[in-house]
Amino acid sequence: MSLLTPTLHTARLLLRLFTEADTDDIFALQSNPHVLRYWDAPPWQERAQAERFIKRCKEMAQEGSGVRIAIERSSDGEFIGWCGFFKWTPEFRSAGIGYCLNDKAWGQGFATEAAGAVLQWAFDTLDLNRVQSEADTRNRASARVLEKLGFVLEGTLREDCIVNGEVSDSWVYGLLRRDWKPIVSRRVKPN
Ligand SMILES: CC(C)(COP(=O)(O)OP(=O)(O)OC[C@H]1O[C@@H](n2cnc3c(N)ncnc32)[C@H](O)[C@@H]1OP(=O)(O)O)[C@@H](O)C(=O)NCCC(=O)NCCS
Repeated sequence: MSLLTPTLHTARLLLRLFTEADTDDIFALQSNPHVLRYWDAPPWQERAQAERFIKRCKEMAQEGSGVRIAIERSSDGEFIGWCGFFKWTPEFRSAGIGYCLNDKAWGQGFATEAAGAVLQWAFDTLDLNRVQSEADTRNRASARVLEKLGFVLEGTLREDCIVNGEVSDSWVYGLLRRDWKPIVSRRVKPN
């Protein structure tokens, strides 16, 4: 069953479908070694990878396995990153979540605001019970985003990833429906 990619408005963001017009922006983001420091794949080398990413967004939604949502800052229409809701498994009522933002937009609460809106949409729309996310144990910012959203640290996957020969451990975080508190009741940092 297909999954419709939502259009979501938050206090400061527009979350929307990816289009071909985002190809250069997503390439710039995913080819930035600083941004991808703790990512589970190396920075992109070719623009064709961005084209495949956008194509895959449509396929994922058609398959119903997940959605990738572009994050635009409402104040200036700037693309600042994306949030992924993936591995949607209706039998288990579970899914995964991830995000990647442009380093110029870090530290302003945007990832928490975007992921919070995606979680709200997912809990409202799907019969979702559990969301999981993994973060490199060195990626304190990502762990903090998950904790601010109410995720609970459930364990460590030892030597989970090897990217460019570098072995890393991952934290596993889980959020259950009964622990979810809507983002409206949370603090949002002002610009
Ligand atoms: C992880 C990421 C999404 C965070 O985005 P962001 O918009 O800066 O996140 P937020 O501003 O919503 O929250 C970040 C929190 O981490 C904290 N933080 C940032 N760096 C930190 C560090 N080195 N140690 C401890 N906390 C840190 C911030 O202070 C903030 O917490 P606070 O609100 O309590 O002050 C962003 O850094 C990113 O896109 N990184 C590259 C891609 C990536 O690693 N994605 C996650 C893969 S699992």
